[in-house]
Amino acid sequence: TPSTTDGYLLSAVTLAALLLHASGAPVEDTPTDMPAGEPSGEEQAGPSNLLSVSPVWHAVLGATKRHQKEFEDEFQHELKYHFLENYKVSSLPAGCPLSNFSKEACLHRLAHGLRIYTVLLKHVEKEYPGNLICSVVKYYSDLLINLSKDKMRNPEQVTALTSSQEAQLLGGLDHLDAFQRKMTAHSILRQLHHFLVDSKRAITKRENTKARMADRLLAPISFYNQKFKDEIIQKHL
Ligand SMILES: *[C@@H]1O[C@H](CO)[C@@H](O)[C@H](O)[C@H]1NC(C)=O
Ligand SMILES: *[C@@H]1O[C@H](CO)[C@@H](O)[C@H](O)[C@H]1NC(C)=O
Repeated sequence: TPSTTDGYLLSAVTLAALLLHASGAPVEDTPTDMPAGEPSGEEQAGPSNLLSVSPVWHAVLGATKRHQKEFEDEFQHELKYHFLENYKVSSLPAGCPLSNFSKEACLHRLAHGLRIYTVLLKHVEKEYPGNLICSVVKYYSDLLINLSKDKMRNPEQVTALTSSQEAQLLGGLDHLDAFQRKMTAHSILRQLHHFLVDSKRAITKRENTKARMADRLLAPISFYNQKFKDEIIQKHL
């Protein structure tokens, strides 16, 4: 229900605020654009109803964005961040193409992709036990899956990965040496950031198109209203 989602969202925002504060980030970075509380719980057809403007994006992208600094600190700037491009994980999920996918299809790609990343984050956790970015991102990914399912026509088609799919995703990383495993862990976080940025852009585009289409459908009505009024006025002057 929307009210439970709002409750989780609020705690997510609080969590993000605490983490940003703990990391010494300036207070302005704290997500303050909380959803306008609708105590009535009624479905509002306003902008707050759009997934693309949900504060969860700010929260999750804030965490994944911090990864670059964490990486550079760990390797004392001896390795550049784009060095991670050499460690492509083959099983990464596809994002939403820019043009010919519906909003529904994009939401499914987002939810499915996040399920895959959630499994891959187990590899990150194994390499970096207790990593803060990892646990924050896991929480928000789960929340984002729930929020995108709220917007789907067919949320039941979002299924959990089977244990054999999971084993397959992680099994490919077993043969790597210690350094490669670390780089792969960092690469997963880096790719996840790009996946989230692209997904947000794709969903924003779909949601804005819908809003513009509604405007365009209504615009001619007021145009003809005005024309009609003008004609009447002309006749009676
Ligand atoms: C979208 O276009 C690509 C090629 O540009 C095609 O491979 C794909 O099947 C299309 N998808 C849909 C849902 O139409
Ligand atoms: C997402 O939904 C599941 C199932 O309803 C629930 O167990 C979980 O707590 C939710 N996660 C978040 C972060 O809201």
